[in-house]
Amino acid sequence: HIGMVEVHWEIDSTSSELARRNPVLDDLSFCLAEAQSAGRGRRGRTWLSPPGMNLYLSVLKRFDGGFASLSGLSLAVGVMILRALDEVGIRTAGLKWPNDVLAGNAKLAGILVELSGEYSGPCAAIIGVGLNIRLPDSLHERAGQAITDLAALTGGQPPDRNRVAAAVVCSLAEGLRSFERYGFAAFAREYAANDLLQGQSLRIIDPRGEYVATGEGVDERGALRVRRGDGTLVTVDSAEVSVRRS
Ligand code: ATP
Ligand code: BTN
Repeated sequence: HIGMVEVHWEIDSTSSELARRNPVLDDLSFCLAEAQSAGRGRRGRTWLSPPGMNLYLSVLKRFDGGFASLSGLSLAVGVMILRALDEVGIRTAGLKWPNDVLAGNAKLAGILVELSGEYSGPCAAIIGVGLNIRLPDSLHERAGQAITDLAALTGGQPPDRNRVAAAVVCSLAEGLRSFERYGFAAFAREYAANDLLQGQSLRIIDPRGEYVATGEGVDERGALRVRRGDGTLVTVDSAEVSVRRS
């Protein structure tokens, strides 16, 4: 029940490729590449995607219920990645709301969810995952933030890349079907157990202004809950803000 799994040597972006071919693709079609010439992060940022030893993967998943049924999807995908990592023996990664997988305070993987179709009818999500297995040294300076890879987490002996890829594909295929049926509720407990922002002092960077608050988990839709200095509980949506640990 997987649509297709296609592997390219180099492509602009595995997510862009699925978007171009969306109309003719079966549900749960996967696209992977050895390298990307225009890897994308959130809000037009670049995902560094050199050839070699990383994973650049996207999957197309169709949904009937419209965008509202997809709240919490990027958090659920984070849980799916942690399950795949667990499968290959990596248990030291955690989740930074809304779309990062971190280990030892550095970014190990990123998740990009892009929606298309009807707001309250049939729609599709293209979910892109970049997971670092062995980064060239030069990338650390270019990233603009602390980044890490599975090699660093395993003392130089990362799990076999094909095994990691297979574990991620299987976990996404199974997890996305479960998300389709039960939504974020099926992932909430595991998300909370791996929530790196819980109880942390955070800097919330909102276009309307910046403030400091404490992480208080996420709500049933996957929105971040924080407590401000004056004691009020605020719900933060992922679209417009960035969160930093302060
Ligand atoms: P936000 O919290 O706003 O999402 P972010 O810094 O995580 O902030 P994203 O757009 O999610 O931003 O991710 C893109 C960022 O990820 C880049 O600006 C860069 O700092 C970092 N990055 C780029 N390539 C890699 C990579 N291969 N591995 C880890 N991090 C990377
Ligand atoms: C982020 O942290 O902002 C998300 C990064 C997502 C990167 C992956 S790599 C595979 C897929 N193709 C892309 O161009 N981006 C995603």
